[in-house]
Amino acid sequence: LRDNYGLEKVILKEPSGSTAQVHLFGGQVTSWKNDQEEELLFLSSKETYKPPKALRGGIPICFPQFGNFGSLEQHGFVRNRIWSIDLDPPPISVNSSSNKAVIDLIYKPTDDDLKIWPRSFELRLRVALARGGDLTLTVRVRNTDTKPLSFTIALHTYFSVSDSSEVRIEGLETLDYLDNLEHKERFTEQGDAMTFDGEVDRFYLSTPTKLAIIDHQKKRTFVLRKEGLPDAVVWNPWDKKARALPDFGDEEYKDMVCVGAAVLEKPITLKPSEEWKGRQALSHVPSSYFSGR
Ligand code: BG6
Repeated sequence: LRDNYGLEKVILKEPSGSTAQVHLFGGQVTSWKNDQEEELLFLSSKETYKPPKALRGGIPICFPQFGNFGSLEQHGFVRNRIWSIDLDPPPISVNSSSNKAVIDLIYKPTDDDLKIWPRSFELRLRVALARGGDLTLTVRVRNTDTKPLSFTIALHTYFSVSDSSEVRIEGLETLDYLDNLEHKERFTEQGDAMTFDGEVDRFYLSTPTKLAIIDHQKKRTFVLRKEGLPDAVVWNPWDKKARALPDFGDEEYKDMVCVGAAVLEKPITLKPSEEWKGRQALSHVPSSYFSGR
Protein backbone atom coordinates (compact mmCIF):
# COMPACT_ATOMS: atom_id res chain seq x y z
CA LEU A 1 0.00 0.00 0.00
CA ARG A 2 0.95 3.66 -0.28
CA ASP A 3 -0.06 6.27 2.24
CA ASN A 4 -1.56 9.64 1.26
CA TYR A 5 1.95 11.03 0.96
CA GLY A 6 3.14 8.35 -1.47
CA LEU A 7 5.24 6.37 1.01
CA GLU A 8 4.99 2.60 0.86
CA LYS A 9 3.65 0.74 3.86
CA VAL A 10 2.48 -2.70 4.90
CA ILE A 11 -0.55 -3.39 7.09
CA LEU A 12 -0.70 -6.45 9.34
CA LYS A 13 -4.07 -7.70 10.60
CA GLU A 14 -4.89 -10.53 12.96
CA PRO A 15 -8.22 -12.33 13.35
CA SER A 16 -9.36 -10.60 16.56
CA GLY A 17 -9.10 -7.23 14.79
CA SER A 18 -5.88 -5.57 15.88
CA THR A 19 -3.60 -4.11 13.24
CA ALA A 20 -0.08 -2.82 12.79
CA GLN A 21 1.36 -0.64 10.06
CA VAL A 22 4.98 -0.59 8.93
CA HIS A 23 6.48 2.02 6.62
CA LEU A 24 9.33 0.90 4.35
CA PHE A 25 10.80 4.36 4.97
CA GLY A 26 12.81 3.79 8.15
CA GLY A 27 11.53 0.21 8.53
CA GLN A 28 9.31 2.01 11.00
CA VAL A 29 6.21 0.70 12.72
CA THR A 30 3.87 3.72 12.48
CA SER A 31 0.65 2.33 13.92
CA TRP A 32 -0.49 -0.38 16.30
CA LYS A 33 -4.21 -0.58 17.01
CA ASN A 34 -6.19 -2.80 19.35
CA ASP A 35 -9.38 -4.63 18.38
CA GLN A 36 -11.36 -1.45 19.22
CA GLU A 37 -9.31 0.42 16.58
CA GLU A 38 -7.70 2.53 19.30
CA GLU A 39 -4.21 3.71 18.40
CA LEU A 40 -1.62 2.51 20.91
CA LEU A 41 1.42 4.30 19.47
CA PHE A 42 1.91 8.04 19.21
CA LEU A 43 2.49 9.66 15.82
CA SER A 44 2.70 13.43 15.71
CA SER A 45 -0.12 15.31 14.04
CA LYS A 46 2.62 17.60 12.67
CA GLU A 47 4.24 14.75 10.75
CA THR A 48 4.52 15.68 7.07
CA TYR A 49 5.94 12.38 5.75
CA LYS A 50 8.67 14.13 3.83
CA PRO A 51 11.85 12.07 3.61
CA PRO A 52 14.67 12.33 4.43
CA LYS A 53 13.34 13.60 7.76
CA ALA A 54 12.58 10.64 10.04
CA LEU A 55 8.94 10.05 10.98
CA ARG A 56 8.04 11.49 14.40
CA GLY A 57 6.44 8.65 16.28
CA GLY A 58 5.81 4.93 16.10
CA ILE A 59 8.95 2.86 16.53
CA PRO A 60 11.98 4.34 14.76
CA ILE A 61 15.00 2.05 14.59
CA CYS A 62 18.09 3.97 15.69
CA PHE A 63 21.04 2.20 14.04
CA PRO A 64 24.03 1.89 13.70
CA GLN A 65 24.27 4.57 16.37
CA PHE A 66 21.88 5.50 19.09
CA GLY A 67 21.67 9.24 19.87
CA ASN A 68 25.06 10.94 19.79
CA PHE A 69 27.03 7.89 20.99
CA GLY A 70 29.43 8.26 18.04
CA SER A 71 30.29 10.49 15.10
CA LEU A 72 27.31 9.69 12.84
CA GLU A 73 24.17 11.80 12.62
CA GLN A 74 21.82 11.59 15.63
CA HIS A 75 20.26 8.11 15.91
CA GLY A 76 22.16 6.77 12.89
CA PHE A 77 20.90 6.74 9.32
CA VAL A 78 18.62 3.74 8.74
CA ARG A 79 15.56 5.61 10.08
CA ASN A 80 15.98 7.92 7.08
CA ARG A 81 16.36 5.23 4.45
CA ILE A 82 13.97 3.15 2.40
CA TRP A 83 14.07 -0.50 3.43
CA SER A 84 12.98 -3.49 1.30
CA ILE A 85 10.67 -6.38 1.94
CA ASP A 86 12.78 -9.45 2.69
CA LEU A 87 11.12 -12.22 0.70
CA ASP A 88 13.41 -14.99 1.85
CA PRO A 89 14.48 -14.23 5.42
CA PRO A 90 16.70 -16.72 7.21
CA PRO A 91 14.68 -18.56 9.86
CA ILE A 92 14.54 -17.22 13.40
CA SER A 93 15.13 -20.11 15.81
CA VAL A 94 12.72 -19.18 18.62
CA ASN A 95 9.40 -17.36 18.21
CA SER A 96 7.79 -19.38 15.44
CA SER A 97 5.73 -17.30 13.09
CA SER A 98 2.64 -19.52 13.19
CA ASN A 99 -0.58 -17.78 14.18
CA LYS A 100 0.94 -14.42 13.47
CA ALA A 101 0.75 -11.76 10.80
CA VAL A 102 4.39 -11.21 9.89
CA ILE A 103 6.43 -8.94 7.67
CA ASP A 104 10.19 -9.16 7.19
CA LEU A 105 12.18 -6.12 6.11
CA ILE A 106 15.84 -5.69 5.29
CA TYR A 107 18.23 -2.81 4.94
CA LYS A 108 21.66 -3.05 3.32
CA PRO A 109 23.94 -0.01 3.08
CA THR A 110 24.11 1.82 -0.24
CA ASP A 111 27.31 3.19 -1.75
CA ASP A 112 26.46 6.58 -0.22
CA ASP A 113 26.00 4.98 3.21
CA LEU A 114 29.37 3.28 2.87
CA LYS A 115 30.94 6.71 2.39
CA ILE A 116 29.67 7.88 5.79
CA TRP A 117 30.04 4.51 7.55
CA PRO A 118 32.36 2.15 5.70
CA ARG A 119 30.88 -1.11 7.02
CA SER A 120 28.91 -3.65 5.10
CA PHE A 121 25.99 -5.20 7.01
CA GLU A 122 22.52 -6.68 6.70
CA LEU A 123 19.93 -5.28 9.09
CA ARG A 124 16.73 -7.31 9.31
CA LEU A 125 13.51 -6.47 11.06
CA ARG A 126 10.66 -8.89 11.61
CA VAL A 127 7.40 -7.34 12.77
CA ALA A 128 4.93 -9.93 14.05
CA LEU A 129 1.38 -9.25 15.20
CA ALA A 130 0.07 -12.19 17.20
CA ARG A 131 -3.53 -13.26 17.63
CA GLY A 132 -4.78 -11.01 20.44
CA GLY A 133 -2.60 -8.11 19.31
CA ASP A 134 0.84 -8.53 20.88
CA LEU A 135 3.44 -6.84 18.71
CA THR A 136 6.97 -8.25 18.50
CA LEU A 137 9.91 -6.64 16.73
CA THR A 138 12.95 -8.85 16.13
CA VAL A 139 16.06 -7.12 14.83
CA ARG A 140 19.02 -8.96 13.40
CA VAL A 141 22.36 -7.53 12.34
CA ARG A 142 24.81 -9.55 10.27
CA ASN A 143 28.36 -8.41 9.70
CA THR A 144 28.96 -8.94 5.98
CA ASP A 145 32.24 -7.05 6.11
CA THR A 146 35.78 -8.34 6.47
CA LYS A 147 36.36 -6.13 9.53
CA PRO A 148 34.66 -6.22 12.94
CA LEU A 149 31.41 -4.24 13.15
CA SER A 150 30.41 -2.29 16.28
CA PHE A 151 27.08 -0.59 16.82
CA THR A 152 24.56 0.74 19.29
CA ILE A 153 20.84 0.47 18.62
CA ALA A 154 17.45 1.48 20.02
CA LEU A 155 13.84 0.72 19.20
CA HIS A 156 12.66 4.19 20.11
CA THR A 157 9.04 3.38 20.93
CA TYR A 158 6.54 6.26 21.19
CA PHE A 159 3.61 5.03 23.33
CA SER A 160 0.31 6.88 23.13
CA VAL A 161 -0.86 7.87 26.64
CA SER A 162 -3.71 9.98 28.01
CA ASP A 163 -1.50 12.31 30.09
CA SER A 164 2.25 11.82 30.39
CA SER A 165 2.33 13.50 33.82
CA GLU A 166 0.13 10.67 35.14
CA VAL A 167 2.19 7.82 33.67
CA ARG A 168 4.37 5.55 35.82
CA ILE A 169 7.08 3.27 34.54
CA GLU A 170 7.86 0.25 36.67
CA GLY A 171 11.05 -1.74 36.29
CA LEU A 172 13.51 1.18 36.31
CA GLU A 173 13.59 1.80 40.07
CA THR A 174 17.03 1.60 41.74
CA LEU A 175 18.77 1.44 38.34
CA ASP A 176 21.65 3.57 37.17
CA TYR A 177 20.98 5.89 34.25
CA LEU A 178 22.88 8.38 32.16
CA ASP A 179 21.11 11.72 32.06
CA ASN A 180 21.40 13.20 28.59
CA LEU A 181 20.25 16.57 29.97
CA GLU A 182 23.33 16.54 32.26
CA HIS A 183 26.04 15.61 29.73
CA LYS A 184 25.37 11.91 30.29
CA GLU A 185 26.23 12.10 33.97
CA ARG A 186 25.41 8.90 35.86
CA PHE A 187 22.60 8.91 38.43
CA THR A 188 20.61 6.26 40.30
CA GLU A 189 16.81 6.15 40.04
CA GLN A 190 15.48 6.88 43.54
CA GLY A 191 11.68 6.71 43.22
CA ASP A 192 9.69 3.48 43.45
CA ALA A 193 8.58 4.11 39.86
CA MET A 194 9.68 6.56 37.20
CA THR A 195 7.29 9.47 36.54
CA PHE A 196 7.35 12.52 34.28
CA ASP A 197 7.11 16.12 35.49
CA GLY A 198 9.45 17.83 33.06
CA GLU A 199 11.78 17.05 30.16
CA VAL A 200 13.25 13.55 30.43
CA ASP A 201 16.12 12.26 28.30
CA ARG A 202 17.65 9.25 30.04
CA PHE A 203 19.44 6.02 29.25
CA TYR A 204 18.74 3.35 31.86
CA LEU A 205 21.45 0.71 32.03
CA SER A 206 21.00 -3.06 32.36
CA THR A 207 17.28 -3.01 33.06
CA PRO A 208 15.06 -5.99 33.87
CA THR A 209 13.69 -7.76 30.79
CA LYS A 210 10.17 -6.57 31.62
CA LEU A 211 9.08 -2.94 31.98
CA ALA A 212 5.55 -1.68 32.57
CA ILE A 213 4.22 1.65 31.33
CA ILE A 214 1.14 2.32 33.42
CA ASP A 215 -1.46 4.77 32.13
CA HIS A 216 -3.83 5.25 35.08
CA GLN A 217 -6.24 7.51 33.29
CA LYS A 218 -6.76 5.07 30.40
CA LYS A 219 -6.61 2.14 32.84
CA ARG A 220 -4.11 0.57 30.46
CA THR A 221 -0.69 -0.90 31.06
CA PHE A 222 1.78 -1.54 28.28
CA VAL A 223 4.15 -4.37 29.03
CA LEU A 224 7.50 -4.22 27.23
CA ARG A 225 9.59 -7.39 27.23
CA LYS A 226 13.03 -7.47 25.73
CA GLU A 227 15.85 -9.84 24.94
CA GLY A 228 19.37 -9.03 23.81
CA LEU A 229 18.76 -5.31 24.40
CA PRO A 230 19.99 -4.68 27.96
CA ASP A 231 19.38 -0.93 28.23
CA ALA A 232 16.34 1.33 27.83
CA VAL A 233 15.85 4.88 26.60
CA VAL A 234 13.19 7.08 28.15
CA TRP A 235 12.30 10.41 26.55
CA ASN A 236 9.70 13.13 26.74
CA PRO A 237 10.51 16.60 25.37
CA TRP A 238 8.02 18.42 27.66
CA ASP A 239 6.74 21.89 26.76
CA LYS A 240 9.83 23.94 25.92
CA LYS A 241 11.57 21.33 23.75
CA ALA A 242 8.22 20.43 22.14
CA ARG A 243 7.88 24.02 20.92
CA ALA A 244 11.37 23.81 19.42
CA LEU A 245 10.62 20.64 17.43
CA PRO A 246 9.08 21.50 14.04
CA ASP A 247 7.47 18.07 13.62
CA PHE A 248 5.91 17.90 17.08
CA GLY A 249 2.80 19.71 18.37
CA ASP A 250 3.29 22.17 21.24
CA GLU A 251 0.96 20.20 23.52
CA GLU A 252 1.72 16.71 22.23
CA TYR A 253 4.24 15.98 24.98
CA LYS A 254 1.17 15.16 27.08
CA ASP A 255 0.09 12.46 24.62
CA MET A 256 3.25 10.34 24.52
CA VAL A 257 6.12 8.79 26.39
CA CYS A 258 9.07 7.14 24.67
CA VAL A 259 10.39 3.97 26.26
CA GLY A 260 12.51 1.71 24.09
CA ALA A 261 14.78 -1.30 24.34
CA ALA A 262 18.36 -0.47 23.46
CA VAL A 263 22.04 -1.31 23.47
CA LEU A 264 23.79 1.86 24.56
CA GLU A 265 26.58 1.65 27.03
CA LYS A 266 28.41 -1.39 25.75
CA PRO A 267 28.24 -1.51 21.94
CA ILE A 268 27.80 -4.87 20.24
CA THR A 269 30.84 -5.99 18.23
CA LEU A 270 30.41 -8.66 15.56
CA LYS A 271 33.18 -10.57 13.86
CA PRO A 272 32.92 -11.02 10.08
CA SER A 273 29.81 -13.11 9.21
CA GLU A 274 28.61 -13.12 12.83
CA GLU A 275 24.96 -12.24 13.57
CA TRP A 276 23.34 -10.49 16.55
CA LYS A 277 19.67 -10.64 17.43
CA GLY A 278 17.48 -8.55 19.75
CA ARG A 279 13.78 -8.54 20.43
CA GLN A 280 11.16 -6.22 21.90
CA ALA A 281 7.64 -7.54 22.51
CA LEU A 282 4.79 -5.21 23.38
CA SER A 283 1.46 -6.13 24.89
CA HIS A 284 -1.27 -4.14 26.59
CA VAL A 285 -3.53 -5.14 29.45
CA PRO A 286 -6.17 -3.35 31.51
CA SER A 287 -4.24 -1.83 34.45
CA SER A 288 -6.14 -3.78 37.10
CA TYR A 289 -4.88 -7.04 35.56
CA PHE A 290 -1.27 -6.10 35.96
CA SER A 291 0.22 -7.63 39.07
CA GLY A 292 3.69 -6.14 39.17
CA ARG A 293 6.94 -7.69 38.03
C1 BG6 B 1 16.22 10.74 22.50
C2 BG6 B 1 17.51 11.45 22.60
O1 BG6 B 1 16.38 9.39 22.69
O2 BG6 B 1 15.63 11.04 21.25
C3 BG6 B 1 17.13 12.92 22.66
O3 BG6 B 1 18.25 11.06 23.73
C4 BG6 B 1 16.39 13.31 21.40
O4 BG6 B 1 18.26 13.71 22.89
C5 BG6 B 1 15.21 12.38 21.18
O5 BG6 B 1 15.94 14.63 21.51
C6 BG6 B 1 14.51 12.60 19.85
O6 BG6 B 1 15.44 12.55 18.84
P1 BG6 B 1 15.10 12.99 17.37
O7 BG6 B 1 16.40 12.99 16.63
O8 BG6 B 1 14.15 11.96 16.84
O9 BG6 B 1 14.45 14.36 17.46
